[in-house]
Amino acid sequence: MLTFEKHNNMSTEDKNLHHGEPEIDELTQDRYLGGHEYDGIRELDNRMPRWWLYLFYVTIVFSAVYLIGYHVLPEGSRWASQEMEYENEIAAAALNMPADPHASIDLASLVPMTEQSDMAAGEEIYNKICVTCHGKFAEGLVGPNMTDPYWIHGDTTTNTITVKDLYNVMITGVIEKGMISYKDQLNPEQMQQVIGFIFSLQGTTPPNAKKPEGHKFDVIG
Ligand code: HEC
Repeated sequence: MLTFEKHNNMSTEDKNLHHGEPEIDELTQDRYLGGHEYDGIRELDNRMPRWWLYLFYVTIVFSAVYLIGYHVLPEGSRWASQEMEYENEIAAAALNMPADPHASIDLASLVPMTEQSDMAAGEEIYNKICVTCHGKFAEGLVGPNMTDPYWIHGDTTTNTITVKDLYNVMITGVIEKGMISYKDQLNPEQMQQVIGFIFSLQGTTPPNAKKPEGHKFDVIG
């Protein structure tokens, strides 16, 4: 009964809203927050700590700067998004990449090298890299025999297999059959040297020759 009389049967909110003077807690001198009261427990309207408030204001300013800097200004004048940064870096890196030396070669105009020095250089490359799969005399092992007129790659419409066709096989590789690309290991000159050497073996009939694979070509080289 006492409580009822003291509070005049009104909630704190009613008091704070309608009676001008807000109700103040004697101990802390903080204002009572109106609107809710549970089992006599009430909430004080504590002041936010200053450091917290300032931090909050800083985040508001930051968000405005961020929004304008990353989204509002027209493209180009604003800060780069992660995607743009990524693309810029890739573009910059591409400029520093050494140009592919094979890209500028006019493959169609190439004819097999025949110079003795080139043949020797080609043979050396062949023995170092190609011999494991194509055999000591290019008679074929894992890879096909390259001494006979049968070739897997080549232009069947013109019935020709040229430097260009061999060059393409070596540049691209035939990964599914186990031959890698040699475009990074061999420069264009070395490519042509080993190709010239391979063509020079046409018609040799090495022992243990692998059976013909592919198409029989009339024009070789
Ligand atoms: C790891 C094994 C392997 C090595 C090493 C290898 N080759 Fe091959 N090569 C193959 C295989 C397998 C094929 C057959 C690809 C196909 O069926 O298309 C092939 C195909 C070729 C062809 C096409 C032949 C055709 O009949 O059309 C040429 C040319 C060739 N290799 C050249 C070379 C040269 C030159 C080297 C060394 C620089 C070399 N290969 C090293 C496995 C190899």
